[in-house]
Amino acid sequence: MRPDGIVIAIDGPAGVGKSTVGKLVAARVGYRFISTGKMYRALAWQALERGQDLESDGGLVKLALSLRWEFPKGSGPEADILLDGRKLELELVEERVSKASSAIARLPGVRLFMKEMQRQAGLRGGVVMEGRDIGTNVFPDAELKIYLDASAAARAKRRVGQLRGQGLPADYDEILDFIKKRDAQDSGRAVNPLRKADDASYVDSTELPRDQVVAAIVDLFNLATKKY
Ligand code: DC
Repeated sequence: MRPDGIVIAIDGPAGVGKSTVGKLVAARVGYRFISTGKMYRALAWQALERGQDLESDGGLVKLALSLRWEFPKGSGPEADILLDGRKLELELVEERVSKASSAIARLPGVRLFMKEMQRQAGLRGGVVMEGRDIGTNVFPDAELKIYLDASAAARAKRRVGQLRGQGLPADYDEILDFIKKRDAQDSGRAVNPLRKADDASYVDSTELPRDQVVAAIVDLFNLATKKY
């Protein structure tokens, strides 16, 4: 057992609800929640702000190393992300940042930097960490690994519901196409592609309401912590 508890790794494709579910699980078990996608987004945002070349792995690693990264406790279970003292929030959900983060996430040096930083952030345990390669690459030694999945159609339908709920226009076919492209990019890249770790529990949320997904993971947590 680590000093603050176990590491819960949640991986899965875009739009499957890893953050929503992860935060709810973290709140239930009193753990911190960390989104590693936001770390890629933070570096992408900074690179865009400085007009840096998004293809240069070396340049991006240099940039990442020159920044002060902090993940202090936020108002809820999710840790804040501070870059050189600036708290990043809305910047990270900009469309240009989504695209750029996906591009830089292909680069091996960037991935290595992120892995080291993510390991540091979670080493003490007591953390739910969400991403694409947490169970396979960042914490292959995580005490509990979840691979959260749902069909592309179900994810697209949920996204349409979310957008329309916010009074925004949403085209189902366009969103489905976007989701399929992101899946292909995340699963098809050469370095640390998205895949289920052999020892991860597979949770298919296509037909499962969110509360049941959370309850299933909390059950697995209770089982896992009995062992330690
Ligand atoms: O989960 P997200 O959409 O915020 O992630 C942003 C990008 O970062 C996405 O294209 C996938 C990539 N990513 C990754 O490659 N590995 C992670 N552990 C987390 C995110």
